[in-house]
Amino acid sequence: MRLVLLGPPGAGKGTQANMLKESLSIPHISTGDILRERVKDNSPIGRKARQFISQGELVPDDIVIEIVMDRLKAADVKSGFMLDGFPRTRLQAEALSRALKKLNISIDLVVYFKTQPETSIRRLGGRRICSQCQANYHVQNMPPQKQGICDQCGGALYEREDDKEETVRNRLDVYFRETAELIDYYREKGLLRTLSGDKEAKEVFAILMALFKQEGLMPSCQ
Ligand code: AP5
Repeated sequence: MRLVLLGPPGAGKGTQANMLKESLSIPHISTGDILRERVKDNSPIGRKARQFISQGELVPDDIVIEIVMDRLKAADVKSGFMLDGFPRTRLQAEALSRALKKLNISIDLVVYFKTQPETSIRRLGGRRICSQCQANYHVQNMPPQKQGICDQCGGALYEREDDKEETVRNRLDVYFRETAELIDYYREKGLLRTLSGDKEAKEVFAILMALFKQEGLMPSCQ
């Protein structure tokens, strides 16, 4: 299955991708995660990307497109993939379409997590991430068992620099300015399916699984 997860910051794309990974056995490709890794490693790409990420601006298209094109060459994507946070501009969407055409494959579905801006602000303000395994928590909605400590690996939890309210508001503006037009782009291609990202995470997951069955993307016994 080849999926694109589309939606504003804090819509729950990463959370659902992590839940789906178990059921679908396909890799989760998050451009945000890849870029943050590059920043952490202080690689040339990371040094270029750092400033854009911390201000809530988009990293330039050529950088992100190159990252994704490289990732799509890996052997593990042959069984399918979930793209999370890519594409984010029309240029990126067109580059993806050309690349997949060359590989003789196509996107099965684009899932749009329609989410209220207030939900994004509330969620991102409380998000905590494990510094070791990147597991995702929320201080109220999905708290760890021990405050500040990851349930899965015991790593320390931290707050993303771009989750400050002012930066989140800018990320939302950038989303509406640069990314929201992809909703129509994929709707016109007949690929878009919309669900509410405002609902509770388990409910969203159940809706997603039902959607995949309805679309004939999963055997009905799963
Ligand atoms: P990226 O990391 O992609 O951030 P984003 O798209 O802004 O998405 P988020 O990770 O903030 O939100 P999400 O929808 O995944 O929500 P999550 O599941 O984590 O990008 C960061 C930056 O990198 C960009 O600003 C840009 O600079 C750069 N970048 C990345 N891709 C790029 C590209 N293609 N082009 C150019 N630049 C790019 O959930 C959030 C919180 O809510 C968590 O705490 C979670 O526990 C909680 N939560 C999730 N779902 C629910 C629920 N249903 N109910 C209650 N709580 C929930």
